[in-house]
Amino acid sequence: MKKIVIGASIVLLAVACSPKASPSATAATIPEASAISSDATTVSAGQTIFTTKCTKCHKAKTEVVASKSYEDLRPILAAMVKKAKLSNDEIQQVSSYVYANSKK
Ligand code: HEC
Repeated sequence: MKKIVIGASIVLLAVACSPKASPSATAATIPEASAISSDATTVSAGQTIFTTKCTKCHKAKTEVVASKSYEDLRPILAAMVKKAKLSNDEIQQVSSYVYANSKK
């Protein structure tokens, strides 16, 4: 029994740490740059989320966003939208805002 538990833990660890696991999870949740809406209403709705729902645990990470490319921000966003429990629509909106303000 112990062996099975240890075996299962190793498999779980391998899945959690495999480099393939995170980019595909990212692609599934955070839109790619080519799919981003630059519509002003969407960006502004995203800003509201960024300054309200994304500031429950820390201040608005405006400087981090401005200093990184959108591609570098996508994996961070993927983790954060889960923490903030955003809906799909909110994810699209906050991604548009982050894209608009990321390093180009
Ligand atoms: C449940 C708490 C929580 C929520 C909600 C949350 N974050 Fe975070 N976030 C953290 C923690 C913890 C860290 C790491 C410590 C820090 O940098 O403050 C972090 C770090 C960050 C960073 C810096 C990462 C880095 O590599 O420097 C960014 C950018 C960020 N969050 C963006 C967001 C955005 C955007 C949202 C809304 C979608 C959000 N966060 C919502 C907890 C949260």
